[in-house]
Amino acid sequence: MTKPRLYSGMQPSADSLHLGNYIGALLQWKQMQQEHDAFFSIVDLHAITVPQDPAELREKTRRTAAQYIAAGIDPSASTLYVQSHVPAHAQLAWVLNTITGMGEAARMTQFKDKSAKHGRDASSVGLFAYPILMAADILLYQTDIVPVGDDQRQHIELTRDLAERFNARFGDTFVVPKAQIQKDSARIYDLQNPTSKMSKSAETPAGIIWLLDEPKVTQKKIMRAVTDNDGVIAFDTQEKPGVSNLLSIYSAITGSPIEAVVGEFEGRGYGDLKKGLAEVVVGELEPVRARALELLDDPAELDRLLAVNAARATEVAEQTLAEVYDRVGL
Ligand code: ADP
Ligand code: NA
Repeated sequence: MTKPRLYSGMQPSADSLHLGNYIGALLQWKQMQQEHDAFFSIVDLHAITVPQDPAELREKTRRTAAQYIAAGIDPSASTLYVQSHVPAHAQLAWVLNTITGMGEAARMTQFKDKSAKHGRDASSVGLFAYPILMAADILLYQTDIVPVGDDQRQHIELTRDLAERFNARFGDTFVVPKAQIQKDSARIYDLQNPTSKMSKSAETPAGIIWLLDEPKVTQKKIMRAVTDNDGVIAFDTQEKPGVSNLLSIYSAITGSPIEAVVGEFEGRGYGDLKKGLAEVVVGELEPVRARALELLDDPAELDRLLAVNAARATEVAEQTLAEVYDRVGL
C-alpha cells in the first residue's frame, strides 16, 4: 500500500512564524506526516510576487525551514524543501499559464484583495499568476491531498480545474487533488484584536505570538490578551471572541476538547485561564524555539538537509514535468 501523497507550503515572509501558523499548519502537518507521503515546501517563488529584500528573503527562507523542522516536520520522513531549488515548479507553471483563461485567473479573489492594497496596475503579473504557480506546486507531485486554510479553497478549485482540463486535452497525466480545509477550531485570532486572524501582517505587535519569542515575552502577551467584562469562562465565538480564542489555543495545544477545557476552568477567573494557557504555550514552544535556534546556528548542516530534500523533490517533479512536456509536444 502506498501512502497518499500530501503537499503543503508556506511563504518565507517573516523572520518568525506565529502561533496561528503553528496550530493551523505545522501541528496538522506533523500529525499527518506518518500516514502520508508528504511534501512540505517553503515557497520563495511565491514570496517574490511582492517586493522582497534579497538578503532578507534568503535569511527568512532558512529561518522558515528551521522552524518547520523544530516544530516536528521530520526531514527524513517528509520531503521538506525550498521551492526555487526545484526548477520544475516554474517550468510547469509556464505550461499551466497557457491553459488558464484570463477571465478565469481574474476571478481569483485573493488577487483582488492583494492588488487592491497596492493598486491593480502597480501589482505584478507574478502576483496575478500566483494561483497558477500554486497549481503547478501541487500537480508536480501527483498530490492526493492539500491541507489548507479556508482562504485557499478557490485556488484548490482552480488547481483541480487545470488538472482536469490538461488531462482531457492531452491525456491522463495529473492526479486531481482534494483540499483538506482547516477546521474552524484550528483558526487562531489576534490576542489584541480577537475578531481578526493572527497574521504576520497585523498591526498589533502584542497580539501575535511568534515561535521565536522569548518565553517571558510570550507569557506577557498572553497575560495581556483582550477578553471582555463579564468574567465568565465560556466558549462563544460571537459574544466572547477573546476568551474563546484563549480556549481554542489551549485545546489545540493540549489536544483536550474545548468542552473539557471549559470544564477545567469553570468558575475561575480570566487570570487563571491566562496563567494556565501561558504555561501550556510556553511549555510547547520553548523546545521549538530552542531547536530552531540550534539549527540556525549551523547553517551548513541546514543547507545540507535542504539540498538532500530538494534532490528528493526534484526526482518526483522531473518525472511529472517530462511527461507533461512529452504530452504537449515540447
Ligand atoms: P499569514 O496570515 O500570517 O500571512 P499565511 O497566509 O502565510 O499566514 O499562512 C501560512 C499557513 O498558516 C497557512 O496554512 C494558513 O492556513 C496558516 N495560518 C495562518 N494564519 C493562521 C491563523 N491565524 N490561524 C490558523 N492558521 C493560520
Ligand atoms: Na495570509
